[in-house]
Amino acid sequence: MPSIAQNGSRNTTQSRKQKPVLKFSNQPRSAADVIARREIIKRQRESLPIASVKERLVQEVKNHDILIIVGETGSGKTTQLPQFLFNAGFCPDGKVIGITQPRRVAAVTVAKRVAEECGVELGQKVGYSIRFDDNTSSSTRIKYMTDGLLLREALLDPYLSRYSVIIVDEAHERTVHTDVLLGLLKNVQRARVKSVNDHVIVNNKKASNSITNENGKGAECTTLLKQCQRKFPPLKLIIMSASLDARLFSEYFGGARAVHVEGRQHHVDVFYTLHAETDYVDAALITIFQIHLEEGPGDILVFLTGQEEIEGVERLVQEQLQKLPEERKKLLTVPIFSSLPSEKQMRVFMPAPAGYRKVILATNIAETSVTIPGIKFVIDPGFVKARSYDPVKGMESLIIIPTSKAQALQRSGRAGREGPGKCFRLYPESEFEKLEDSTKPEIKRCNLSNVILQLKALGIDDIIGFDFLEKPSRAAIQKSLEQLFLLGALTDDCKLSDPVGHQMARLPLDPIYSKALILASQFNCLEEMLIAVSMLSVESIFYNPREKSAEAKTAKKCFASPDGDHLTLINVYRAADELLQKRRMELSTEKNEKNIKGKNEKIVRKWCKENFINSRSLKHACDIHSQIRGHVEQMGLPISSCGDDTLQFRRCLAASFFLNAALKQPEGTYRALASGQVVQIHPTSVLHQSKLECVIFDELVQTSQKYIRNTTRIDYLWLTELAPHYYAMQG
Ligand code: CDP
Ligand code: MG
Repeated sequence: MPSIAQNGSRNTTQSRKQKPVLKFSNQPRSAADVIARREIIKRQRESLPIASVKERLVQEVKNHDILIIVGETGSGKTTQLPQFLFNAGFCPDGKVIGITQPRRVAAVTVAKRVAEECGVELGQKVGYSIRFDDNTSSSTRIKYMTDGLLLREALLDPYLSRYSVIIVDEAHERTVHTDVLLGLLKNVQRARVKSVNDHVIVNNKKASNSITNENGKGAECTTLLKQCQRKFPPLKLIIMSASLDARLFSEYFGGARAVHVEGRQHHVDVFYTLHAETDYVDAALITIFQIHLEEGPGDILVFLTGQEEIEGVERLVQEQLQKLPEERKKLLTVPIFSSLPSEKQMRVFMPAPAGYRKVILATNIAETSVTIPGIKFVIDPGFVKARSYDPVKGMESLIIIPTSKAQALQRSGRAGREGPGKCFRLYPESEFEKLEDSTKPEIKRCNLSNVILQLKALGIDDIIGFDFLEKPSRAAIQKSLEQLFLLGALTDDCKLSDPVGHQMARLPLDPIYSKALILASQFNCLEEMLIAVSMLSVESIFYNPREKSAEAKTAKKCFASPDGDHLTLINVYRAADELLQKRRMELSTEKNEKNIKGKNEKIVRKWCKENFINSRSLKHACDIHSQIRGHVEQMGLPISSCGDDTLQFRRCLAASFFLNAALKQPEGTYRALASGQVVQIHPTSVLHQSKLECVIFDELVQTSQKYIRNTTRIDYLWLTELAPHYYAMQG
């Protein structure tokens, strides 16, 4: 079976003997290659639909402070517009063009592409910044970032004074961060105009006092106005969207100008299954091979719901490939999902070697956020993982739901960018008609605590009165305020508390995690909590291939703590860390840092493979760990370890996760105390079969059942002792 090598490494699939390895070169090797690549990129750019309307778009931005741009996915909005504006002089005095993306992967991959297009090193003129990963410098002028990150920046710089232009991209995605950002940007824009006016008035007065000659005064005032405008130039705001509904955005911005960029779309034949499929993963697998074996050339894009599913399908495809004759094995799987480490992300954009077909396994990120060339076939099982929040029960869940019609259309459209294509929807045609027209905006279906905490930190106290594009329900706002109050982030009169609320707002984490870190410094277990929070912030540390399930379970037992998943995760982290420490001693004679890093990474990957640990996730958790550690150090929280006294750590969990406590019921299920939901401990938890009286959990997920994930044993009495304000209240 061919596999893809990254930086000379072997692939991560288990159980396979060493096979020939195919190398993708992501760096052109010779000067001729470089010139050829530049030529290809130049031609690609010139042929994008947006290239023909460049002058008009630049003029529109000059004429309007707010502009809405709607254009077909792949027309070149995200990669080209910032470059057009930069070249047209929209970055005076070192100002920056900021482009927000709802997803991390999009921010990173697009920044890399644009840096390449500009012929500059990433992080210089073109850079990106996402949570836990900043790749910008003082010379960055085109900066891609997540919408959440720009919101955080506003906390430090409420005028967003570094930016001359802000482009809110993928606005149709309607993430909660985008929605809040739009409201905030409206204020920023107004505030900047006001600042200029105020300065002009003040400086005019000064000028009239000091200058008596009328002509001189006029000239002086014009100069002053120019100086003020240079200091506070009006913020250019551009909202970009792939869907056709520009009206909502236009109305929100007081009838702002909207322009359409024509795209190119070829015909796509859409096929439906005759009957409903019981297992869409299985159906997707069958369809992949049907296409591979029966259709002509062209890459396949499969829409799945998340990392675990993608990695599962990746393994299944490789298993099936083993059974094919050698000449039929030329199929490469390439995953893409939000938490994919950045060095792996660019693989989706690289063409498969001659004779090979690529099958891209993607989440809904490939609907509009990233445009992948070469796709001719789309497989759409019709599902998406979505957050859903019930404010009445205070229960948040991550559930797999059918896509909307708009999403299904976007997905099939991906097959027709470069020529006629085919889309295979893995459900009957009658089901399509039953789909919702469009997806409900996230702000109407998520826990608002995080966003409210940030708005409060920005001095916006009247949350209900905030100018939202679409208002979340009053019940949802109240529930989140209540949660923040219970966590001690808000005072009785709903202001940010000092210091806890301010500290919580500074940490780029879910409020409960932030609270856990703050409390951990008092419980002398901040070392442990930093690890736990980092490990909880990534998807699936353990991996459990179907064919080696028993082995994976045995491997996990080596790390398992009888007290629960949090300590188990800490054991994994520490075991990997110990391994690295040992290696460092062994490599003490090696001077070349790069060699050491390379060798260490190899050793950790091998260790991960042997222990059924997901090395990508572990690496990501380590990065997050070092970043949050930096934050808490800056905040001056004392970092100490509770050592073997894990009681302290569990008490600290009880004190911070008290809203996520569950009590055993006589019939063996658990009852989540805050919501009253009957739940079960998730089968992946080390406490799955145990009969503990009381646990705290990280999240409540509803799939076929209501499950609590990442659980840890606590003593029921700790709840009244450590969270009396809540449990005494409940009686
Ligand atoms: O934003 P929009 O969907 O309008 O298009 P875009 O993301 O700017 O993509 C324009 C073109 O750049 C597409 O043809 C992509 O295939 C290409 N592109 C690429 O090759 N590599 C990337 N990392 C991003 C875009
Ligand atoms: Mg785009």
